[in-house]
Amino acid sequence: MGKSKIALITGITGQDGSYLTEFLINKGYVVHGIIRRSSSFNTGRIDHLYTNPEILNTKLFLHYGDVTDTSNLNRLLEKTHPDEIYNLAAQSHVKVSFEVPEYTAEVDAIGTLRFLDAIRETGLKTKFYQASTSELFGKVQSIPQNENTPFYPRSPYGVAKIYGYWIVVNYREAYNLFACNGILFNHESPRRGETFVTRKITRAVAKIVCGYQKNIKLGNLNAKRDWGYAPEYCEGMWMMLQQNYPEDYVLATGETHTVREFVDLAFKGLGVELEWQGEKEREKGVVKNIDDSLLLEGLINVKPLYKELVLKYIKKNNVVVEVDKNYYRPTEVDLLIGDASKAYNNLGWKPKTKFEELVNIMTLADFEKVIKRGY
Ligand code: NAP
Ligand code: GDD
Repeated sequence: MGKSKIALITGITGQDGSYLTEFLINKGYVVHGIIRRSSSFNTGRIDHLYTNPEILNTKLFLHYGDVTDTSNLNRLLEKTHPDEIYNLAAQSHVKVSFEVPEYTAEVDAIGTLRFLDAIRETGLKTKFYQASTSELFGKVQSIPQNENTPFYPRSPYGVAKIYGYWIVVNYREAYNLFACNGILFNHESPRRGETFVTRKITRAVAKIVCGYQKNIKLGNLNAKRDWGYAPEYCEGMWMMLQQNYPEDYVLATGETHTVREFVDLAFKGLGVELEWQGEKEREKGVVKNIDDSLLLEGLINVKPLYKELVLKYIKKNNVVVEVDKNYYRPTEVDLLIGDASKAYNNLGWKPKTKFEELVNIMTLADFEKVIKRGY
C-alpha cells in the first residue's frame, strides 16, 4: 500500500470542513485540522470522527490554531507537511461582516495571504484550495455568473473574499504555486450553521410544527440564491486539486429560488400549506391548510405522533412567518445563479441534489432532532 496523502484543513469544525474531512478520510488521506480554542465545545460536527478510536490520531489529527496567527501557521506547515491544504476558515456570515468588518478582513483576506506566504517561505510543495464565493459577484453584472463574470461585492465579507481570491491568483502567477479558487455558490445541509437562512428556516419550521416556537422572523424574502448540497461541493473542492494545472472553478446548480420558496417547501414537507399576505415589511406567511398527505416520505413512521403534534399546535390562519427589518442588510445581493459548465467539462463535477430534495433533507433532519430532543 502506498503512503497516505496528507491534507491540512482550516475551518474543519465548520459545515464544509466536516464533510470534506469525511470525504478525504474515506479516500485514504491522513487529515490534520486546525481548531480554535473556544469557551464551549465547537467540534460538534466532527465529534463522530474524532471520538472514533480507529480514526483519532491515525487518520485525523487536530491542532489548535488560528489563521490570524502567522507563527502558528508556519509551525503547522512544518509539522504536518501537507500534500494539500484546504483553506475553509472564515468569518463566513455576510450580515455579521457589516458589524465586524475589520475582523472579517483580518481572517478572510489577510488570513489567506498568511497561509500563501507561509507556503512560499517554507518552500513546501503543496496544493492550496481557497474557499472563494459567489458573494464576489454581489450586484451581478451578468446572468448566470461564471468564471469570467466581473465581480461587484456588496459586503465587507465579499470585499475581504475578493482580496483572498486575487492573492491566490497572484501567488499562483508570481511563485508558481498550485493554488485554486473554488467560487462556490451557496451550499447547505443539516450541518449548516443555524444563523444562515436555510437552516434557520428548517429548524424553526420543525419547532413551530411541534409547538416549541410560534413563528419565524425573517429579512428579505425576495432574495434569490443558487442553493446546492454541501457534501457534493466538498467533493468538487478535492477534484480541483487533482488536476494537472491549477485553475479557478465555479460550483453551482444553475437554478435559483427565493427565500420565500424555501419557506414554502419546508412547511409543505411537514404537511403545512402557507398563504402569503401583505407586502414588504408587512408580509406574513399564514397557514392555509394542514394536510398530512403532503408529509415527507421519511416521516411516514412518525405519522401518528406528527398528527397529534400538528393538530394540537398548528391551526389554519396562524401567522407563522413575519418580516423583521433587523435582518435586512445595508447592501443586499439580490440574485445569484451560477454556471458551472467549466467544472463539468474539466472536472466532471455535476450537482445531483435538486432544490426540493435539499429542502426536504434539511427539514427532515431538523424535524427528527426536534422530536428526539424536544428543542
Ligand atoms: P462555517 O460553517 O461558518 O465554518 C467556518 C469555519 O472557519 C469554522 O470551522 C470556524 O471555526 C473557522 N474559523 C473562523 N474563523 C477562524 C479563524 N480566525 N481561524 C481559524 N478558523 C476559523 O462555514 P462553511 O459554510 O463551512 O464555509 C466554509 C468556507 O467556504 C468559508 O470560508 C466560507 O466563507 C466559504 N463559502 C461558503 C459557502 C457556503 O454556502 N457554505 C459558499 C461559498 C464560500 P469555529 O467552529 O471555531 O467557529
Ligand atoms: N441569515 C439570514 N437570516 N438571511 C436572511 C434572513 C435571515 O433571517 N432573511 C432573509 N435572508 C436572506 C439574506 O438577506 C440573503 O439574501 C439570503 O437570505 C441568504 O442569506 P444567508 O443564508 O445568510 O447566506 P448568504 O447568501 O448571505 O451567504 C452564504 O453564502 C455565500 C455564498 O454565496 C454564506 O455561506 C457565505 O459564507 C457564502 O460565501
